Amino acid sequence: VDKRVTDRLLSWFDKEKRALPWRKSRDPYAIWVSEIMLQQTTVAVVAARYEAFLARFPDLAALARSRPDAVLAAWSGLGYYQRARNLHRAARQIVRQRGGAIPESLEELKTLPGVGEYTANALRAVAFGQFALPMDANIRRVTSRLFATRAPRSFLPRLVSRERPGDCVAALFDLGQLLCRPRNPDCPNCPLRSDCRAARTGRASDFPPRPARKARRVIHLAAAVFLRNGRYFLRRRRSSWLSGLWEFPAAEGPSAREARRRLMALVGDLGRRLPVEIRHAVVNRNLRISIYPGKGSAAVSQGRWMTRRALEGSAVSSLVKKIAGALPQEW
Ligand code: ADE
Repeated sequence: VDKRVTDRLLSWFDKEKRALPWRKSRDPYAIWVSEIMLQQTTVAVVAARYEAFLARFPDLAALARSRPDAVLAAWSGLGYYQRARNLHRAARQIVRQRGGAIPESLEELKTLPGVGEYTANALRAVAFGQFALPMDANIRRVTSRLFATRAPRSFLPRLVSRERPGDCVAALFDLGQLLCRPRNPDCPNCPLRSDCRAARTGRASDFPPRPARKARRVIHLAAAVFLRNGRYFLRRRRSSWLSGLWEFPAAEGPSAREARRRLMALVGDLGRRLPVEIRHAVVNRNLRISIYPGKGSAAVSQGRWMTRRALEGSAVSSLVKKIAGALPQEW
C-alpha cells in the first residue's frame, strides 16, 4: 500500500463522500441489492429507486418469499431485468442453503446467481470490510491514470488500505464519478493530483485506452395496442431477453414495413399507424417503434387487460411505459 496516497484518498472521502442511500446502512443485504443495481445502471438512477425497492423487500427473507413477478415489478425502470431474477434466485438459495446468512468468501459469493468476480469483491470490501480489489470502470480509470498504465490491475493493491478497505473502494468509486471522469477530468480539485503520473504530464484523458465502441444496431419494432373500456391488452413476454415482463404484442424487423408485416401475421389486421414516433435504446440495439391500433379479437386471448394505472405498477419495461405514455387518449 502506498500510505501517502491512501491517506489523501481517505481524508478526501471523509470530507466529500456522497450521502448515497445505500451508505446509510451496514446491512450486507442492503449493500448487496445496491451493488446488483449499480452493475449496469448509473448512481443517479439507482439512487432514485433504491429505497422503494428496499421498503418493498426490507430483508433477505422478505425477498426470498416474494413472487418473481413482484420482484420484477419493483425493478421496473432499472433495466437489465435478468438482474432482478438472479437477485431473487440468489435470495432463495441463501435461505435454502445457508439459513439466510449472506456468504463472505469470494468462492461462496461467486456461487450466487448474478454475482461475478467484480461484485463478489465489491461486497467483500464494502459490506464485509475485507481487503478485496473490485475492478469496475471507475476504479480502472482512476488506477490507470494514477500510474499511467494500461494494466491497472497489478497497481490497485497499492490504493486499498488494510485498515479501511471498504472506504478506500468507495472513495475510488466517488473519485472516479465526481472528479476523475472519463471526459473532462477535474484534475485541479483532485486530492491525488500530485501523485498522478498521467495528470503530471497532462495526459489524464489518454488513460485508460478506450476500446472501440460497438455500434448499436437499428431495429424496427411494430407494436399493436388494443384498447377496450379503458384497458390495454398486454401479454407476457416469452423470450430470453426480458422474459416474463408484460408487453404490448409486437414484432421486430429490419424495416418498419417488415416489422408491420410480421406483427400482422401475429395479431391480424391493424389500423392506421398512430402519429407518434418512439425511439428507445437498449443494450446494443436502437429501436424505432411504430404503434398500430389492433383490430382483430383472436389475438387477444392469452394475456391481460390492464388500466393505465395497473400497467404502471406491473412488471413492464421502460419501453412499455414509454409507449403507454405516448398514446393518444382516443383513436
Ligand atoms: N458503483 C459500484 N458500486 C458503487 C458504490 N457502492 N457506490 C458508488 N458507485 C458504485
